[in-house]
Amino acid sequence: MSRNPLAVAEPWDLVADGYAEFAAAIMQPFAARALEFVSLAPTAQIVDVAAGPGTLSLLAAEHVALVEAIDFSEPMIARLAKDAVAAGLSNIRAQVGDGQNLPFESDRFDAGFSMFGLMFFPERAKGFAELFRVLRPGGTAVVSSWAPVADSPLMRMMFDALAAADPSVQEPQANFLSLENPELFESEMRGAGFEAISIQRHSIALSFAEPEELWETMVRSSAPLELMRQSVGPEVWAERATLMREFLTERYRPHSPLSTTAYLGIGHKPLR
Ligand SMILES: C[S@@+](CC[C@H](N)C(=O)[O-])C[C@H]1O[C@@H](n2cnc3c(N)ncnc32)[C@H](O)[C@@H]1O
Repeated sequence: MSRNPLAVAEPWDLVADGYAEFAAAIMQPFAARALEFVSLAPTAQIVDVAAGPGTLSLLAAEHVALVEAIDFSEPMIARLAKDAVAAGLSNIRAQVGDGQNLPFESDRFDAGFSMFGLMFFPERAKGFAELFRVLRPGGTAVVSSWAPVADSPLMRMMFDALAAADPSVQEPQANFLSLENPELFESEMRGAGFEAISIQRHSIALSFAEPEELWETMVRSSAPLELMRQSVGPEVWAERATLMREFLTERYRPHSPLSTTAYLGIGHKPLR
């Protein structure tokens, strides 16, 4: 079993609405990039695994016949369903479930995605194998994972703010046993049966009108921060929040761009 605290639904349940509202600016450009790697006919059916509030599902639904979205966080799926209705999209089917055990028949989907979701699975191999299984022969999968924090000034700013409030927090070191390692990423996709795999780096830059906007984005959408808030109780949290805001006010120059980088793994299910 993984000890990653983000491998269970609870922290995601707690941030679902804030994530939908504040993380979109960070996550959506990666979903848009993932969709560029797949040519989708208007008749296509796709699956979005660990869909969250539908960052990719909502973008894709305008171009395909059907999106099956699945996530183990009930509030994330509720948010997705609400936003699909608000956008007038009736071709998204959203359900609660585990990405390591997909409730779909084999050989069905033209494309499958897991954006910043499969990376958290305790059994990543099962996640890749399930994604492979449900694709039709010739179908394409795109999976994304963050590059090491050291490569992402936006992530570093957030971890440095956390460390300013709690010196026991350290900037995560590159983990070569995770999908931060593009060679491992490729070999895990190959192990699941994918062919013609390519691991692409993609960066985006975001800027904020003021440090407070960056703080708001962090505090409303970040599951690790929510875990900290829960574990320390209201008084300690209030002190830490003050320290983090002071840190951001001192370090972040309004409108300056902060980049963040991810790897996108693209693989194809062989034609029989
Ligand atoms: C960082 S969010 C990504 C959401 C969305 N794909 C996006 O790009 O914005 C990670 C999502 O993975 C989901 N997740 C993590 N482990 C999961 C699992 N084993 N099965 C289904 N969903 C999972 C979480 O509930 C959360 O919604």
